[in-house]
Amino acid sequence: MKKIAVVGTGYVGLVTGVALSDVGHQVTCIDIDQKKVERMQKGVSPIYEPGLDEVMMRNIEAGRLQFTTDHHEGFSGKEVIYIAVGTPEREDGTADLQYIDQVAKDIATHVKQDVVVVTKSTVPVGTNDHILSLIQEYLVHDVRVEIVSNPEFLREGSAVYDAFNGDRIVVGSDSQRAGDVIEEINKPFGIYCYRTDVRSAEMIKYASNAFLATKISFINEIANICEKVGANIEDVATGMGMDGRIGHQFLRAGIGYGGSCFPKDTKALTQIAANIDHNFELLNAVIRVNNHQHRALTEKAKSVLGSLEGKRVAMLGLAFKPNTDDMRESPAMAISQELILAGATVVAYDPIAMDNAKNVMPAGVSYVQNVEEALQGADAAFIVTDWKEFKALDLSVYVDQMAEANVFDGRNCYDLDKVALTKLNYYSIGRPPVVRGLVGVKG
Ligand code: UDX
Repeated sequence: MKKIAVVGTGYVGLVTGVALSDVGHQVTCIDIDQKKVERMQKGVSPIYEPGLDEVMMRNIEAGRLQFTTDHHEGFSGKEVIYIAVGTPEREDGTADLQYIDQVAKDIATHVKQDVVVVTKSTVPVGTNDHILSLIQEYLVHDVRVEIVSNPEFLREGSAVYDAFNGDRIVVGSDSQRAGDVIEEINKPFGIYCYRTDVRSAEMIKYASNAFLATKISFINEIANICEKVGANIEDVATGMGMDGRIGHQFLRAGIGYGGSCFPKDTKALTQIAANIDHNFELLNAVIRVNNHQHRALTEKAKSVLGSLEGKRVAMLGLAFKPNTDDMRESPAMAISQELILAGATVVAYDPIAMDNAKNVMPAGVSYVQNVEEALQGADAAFIVTDWKEFKALDLSVYVDQMAEANVFDGRNCYDLDKVALTKLNYYSIGRPPVVRGLVGVKG
């Protein structure tokens, strides 16, 4: 079992550190945020992630998992150092590498033994070479440093599950020895380890996220066409997915992708291409389609209700997807902005993300503690996140609470036949509307 340091305790760093300790490694997680570190030392996760607190606690208690703000202490005696700091988006869409550079310099200053440095953060092609040369430039002690690109594919909301059940682990290294070390570390997970060179590994991460984003924008465009020609996107996606070459996953039409990865990584990849004078036309279109899709519900509401001036809109769900409190790039922000601009009053509810939402949502949105309160007296309900709680609702709650039971569902939460048994006016994505119990009737 290895002695490992993980720098950065965001989603990627914390889940990586916790998972590595759970399979028996000795792990120290380093973060510059003192308060966060103090909370983590007590076993409190700074992020909402199902199952994480429990795994964190059992490894702290077993003495395998530590947290510190001190790089010197954190790097001391470690054979492997994982870099998992953020690479936020700059205004021009490129990845900001200042935190990566800082870690490289910290490693160079503090390591007194040979180390393998592993990059988990999503970084443009060539960054690992840059990290290695930066470390070598600032290196204080005479030690051997090798680098491995080991991109992370975990999904928020199921990050702990993914850490133990991923489809593959990508290990990119130009040193056979360093690659072997990382493959060995990951052996206890029992996940297939795909070995390649550093630059290909860096590219695999961007290409994977760009491809998944493309699938989503593609199905959203098909959904928009389905609405116009009277087809049902659910049946279309099911029929498409039966072709093994297409597959069923990532064909859920909705209001577009959000989150910390797809919006940032797609833009970064178009910039990487632009830097070598390549216009990545397909990916640019994927991004445009996604931005437009964020407006799908508001446009629908305007065409059904006419003016939104003075209307009360209940917003159900704020997080960019269920099982997370993450608001980064959530369509809820753009949607509520448009509603407010159109003169509507927005009353929002989310089971978990409300605290985070209050910091980033447009001013003027008000927040309530449950679905019923949000729906009370509303002229329209917008379903933005497909939380289980919303999917399981007895549909009569809409009719009972709302002034007008107009439901605009951005996540296709309900079965059309079930809706047809109620008095809901129901508009979803890529499916016929249900009005006064009749499927396919225009409002
Ligand atoms: C994603 C990748 O899945 C993961 O491999 C990578 O490491 C980080 O980015 P994440 O952002 O956590 O993970 O969420 P994911 O479940 O992939 O969903 C991303 C967005 O796409 C969400 O807004 C979701 O609502 C949307 N989505 C997903 C769809 O609209 N339709 C789909 O069929 C799937």
